[in-house]
Amino acid sequence: MIEIELLKRYNVNFSQGSGLVYIRGKDGNGLYVPLPPKKGFTFKLIRELAILMTIYFCDLDRILVIAGISIGGSCMVLLLLLCIYVRYFRKKNGEEESKFPPEDSMTPSTKDVDKDTNDDNGSKYIWVDKSPEFSYEELANATDNFSLAKKIGQGGFGEVYYGELRGQKIAIKKMKMQATREFLSELKVLTSVHHWNLVHLIGYCVEGFLFLVYEYMENGNLSQHLHNSEKEPMTLSTRMKIALDVARGLEYIHDHSVPVYIHRDIKSDNILLNENFTGKVADFGLTKLTDAANSADNTVHVAGTFGYMPPENAYGRISRKIDVYAFGVVLYELISAKAAVIKIDKTEFEFKSLEIKTNESIDEYKSLVALFDEVMNQTGDCIDDLRKLVDPRLGYNYSIDSISKMAKLAKACINRDPKQRPTMRDVVVSLMELNSSIDNKNSTGSA
Ligand SMILES: Nc1ncnc2c1ncn2[C@@H]1O[C@H](COP(=O)(O)OP(=O)(O)OP(=O)(O)O)[C@@H](O)[C@H]1O
Ligand SMILES: [Mg+2]
Repeated sequence: MIEIELLKRYNVNFSQGSGLVYIRGKDGNGLYVPLPPKKGFTFKLIRELAILMTIYFCDLDRILVIAGISIGGSCMVLLLLLCIYVRYFRKKNGEEESKFPPEDSMTPSTKDVDKDTNDDNGSKYIWVDKSPEFSYEELANATDNFSLAKKIGQGGFGEVYYGELRGQKIAIKKMKMQATREFLSELKVLTSVHHWNLVHLIGYCVEGFLFLVYEYMENGNLSQHLHNSEKEPMTLSTRMKIALDVARGLEYIHDHSVPVYIHRDIKSDNILLNENFTGKVADFGLTKLTDAANSADNTVHVAGTFGYMPPENAYGRISRKIDVYAFGVVLYELISAKAAVIKIDKTEFEFKSLEIKTNESIDEYKSLVALFDEVMNQTGDCIDDLRKLVDPRLGYNYSIDSISKMAKLAKACINRDPKQRPTMRDVVVSLMELNSSIDNKNSTGSA
């Protein structure tokens, strides 16, 4: 028999969960002890199973711990990255927002704090939140109670005043008409239309009269610069550039704004110039307002101005091509610096001045379109006659080739058939080409 103590000594205990391993010893006769009986096999099986399970569960624990640590770690790294991204993105976005506030926050309010800013082109708007409505008190303070000294213009709809509001220069149009409900909802939409070549409607006030608040345009209207000899004459390239500006503004309201607009009163009085002589279209959308007012008080206000109205106006046909026609007239004005309707004095050879009154009233009016038609519809070369129509204040500082191209574009715009007129998009393309050719000539000194 083997000593029990001896047996124990030979046993190795793998306490790490692997269990006991028996090393067989010899009995007193020098023979190996036989294997344990059958019940031992079951025991061994259970034991082996227990060992396997322990290994399995022990490893699973480890796996779970490792997996837990990995997932937790990854989450923390992701969270950290997310925090950095959000911080960076919000900062950038914040900068963008202060430059271009969202559409519905670009309107003024009497309550909110001002956020005035420059847009990319240096234009100043009053960026304030919520309502585009101003109080009468605010506008009266801005214009010294609408004093005469602050009056800068008078149009068909009322007087225009210069003012300063929240540190910004503004022009306030005091309209003769009252605001109808349609009128007001239309105005709200108009305040949300933004384009560099449109005079921005900042807001309005409906206390007593209707007041429209616009961005202020330092250099007044185009008409003053063309027809007022006290103003410095504009170079041909400035005129071409203004034409392109106006075309772009019109293209925008025709094709891109929401909703789209037809101006219906394009004329040099409604083209305003900022401090850098950038041309901007004024009063767009106002004909819709007068339509609303007409339907409310049964008065009829014919949209458009004589000299700028196309033939189809007589039949009440309204299309974008109405603006294209009027734009063609503006091109003729830019070339000739003559008004859209010219007073012809047949006695000019007998009397030097129009001041002299005779019994025979011989004044005659002619449209600028008719004047140019006589030249442009000639069968032969019209260049010499065209020169006679060029603004004398341009002197010799112009290229007749550029003038001729401009006049041809104007002629296409004033085609009697609206369908034959180009779109404002076409006009923009033509004027871009014309402008770049002038720039090239200027840069090579051959203008
Ligand atoms: N935003 C503005 N900034 C500077 N001056 C302006 C502004 N708006 C209007 N004016 C001046 O006031 C004048 C009158 O403008 P108003 O729009 O009332 O009349 P109009 O353009 O001459 O004719 P109509 O009533 O047919 O539009 C303009 O010609 C311009 O000189
Ligand atoms: Mg106007």
